[in-house]
Amino acid sequence: MTDKLIIFDTTLRDGEQSPGASMTRDEKLRIARQLERLKVDIIEAGFAASSNGDFECVKAISEAIKDATVCSLARANDRDISRAAEALKPAKSGRLHLFLATSALHMEKKLRMTPDQVFEQAKSSVRFARNLMDDIEFSPEDGYRSDPDFLCRVLEAVIKEGATTINVPDTVGYAIPELYGNFLKNLRERIPNSDKAVWSVHCHNDLGMAVANSLAGVMIGGARQVECTINGLGERAGNCSLEEVVMAIKTRKDYFGLELGIETKHILATSRMVSQTTGFVVQPNKAVVGANAFAHASGIHQDGVLKARDTYEIMRAEDVGWSANKIVLGKLSGRNAFKQRLQDLGVVMESEADINSAFARFKELADRKSEIFDEDILALVSSETVAQ
Ligand code: KIV
Ligand code: ZN
Repeated sequence: MTDKLIIFDTTLRDGEQSPGASMTRDEKLRIARQLERLKVDIIEAGFAASSNGDFECVKAISEAIKDATVCSLARANDRDISRAAEALKPAKSGRLHLFLATSALHMEKKLRMTPDQVFEQAKSSVRFARNLMDDIEFSPEDGYRSDPDFLCRVLEAVIKEGATTINVPDTVGYAIPELYGNFLKNLRERIPNSDKAVWSVHCHNDLGMAVANSLAGVMIGGARQVECTINGLGERAGNCSLEEVVMAIKTRKDYFGLELGIETKHILATSRMVSQTTGFVVQPNKAVVGANAFAHASGIHQDGVLKARDTYEIMRAEDVGWSANKIVLGKLSGRNAFKQRLQDLGVVMESEADINSAFARFKELADRKSEIFDEDILALVSSETVAQ
């Protein structure tokens, strides 16, 4: 039996909560279709009750998507849940995602409810949702900062009412990998009916640990669903980044031992689509999808990858949609990389002495210019080349 990790993409819901990232219906539809191509398991399309516009987005995505489950977020009340169920009606496979805060801080200051009131509302909302749909996810918001005894009580009750996925949000990105993993493990061990639900992680990136926390939730905590967004888009410092978590699971299958349904070759195109749509630029050194993620500038590294790519590459650029890795010629490049580029450009030199003299001129130029382009090299060698 395979042990599969479910990828729940929330770019169109939690990602869109990033200030300045709001998307039109058509933009969301286009991204949803791309997420379907990427073969994510679940697309959280929006928060149907939050506005008429979001309702229409969830509905349109429910109509269009056939190969992924479409999900809508809803607060744990009858109105929100009914609205979400209505928007999801056309979906081939739909999920209601209910959330209610359980930390003492949120219950007292934000909800102004007692723990007993929250407990009752969590139960009754799942019961209500279960009459409308089979696939129900429950998220205790600010779950990681909640009292574990209270959380166990709530989660056991909502599973009894029929919640099929239990998501444990680190809403404010406060977790540390080992602690978060053990927090989940402890909940799963203490809740008698915990194996009746799939456990899920939802980590924010305020301390830059969303991906690490999610992976710890999987490995230590036994979660089998990860909630994430393309490019890590999301409120404040963002959410767990899909491309990073997916490539970690794939590249270190020796450690995780988990299957994924993701077509990784579509990762780069999806990242670019989200970046262009939202105007959120991807930093060059961003893992997997940044412009430099597969670029080599140092001479020693260039020489290494020209001899054997795995000397300095742990994954293939082509596996995530790049056409190739990139050797950036500049002042740190060695003769071997320079010679290889001449060959790639179809430049034939008569003698090793010619190559040496061209290489010396290249080094001089590289001291003045941070990146040397193919046109620079062609100009540099024009006097002693034989075109092929
Ligand atoms: O961060 C969070 O707590 C959420 C929930 C609504 C799942 O996004
Ligand atoms: Zn969130």
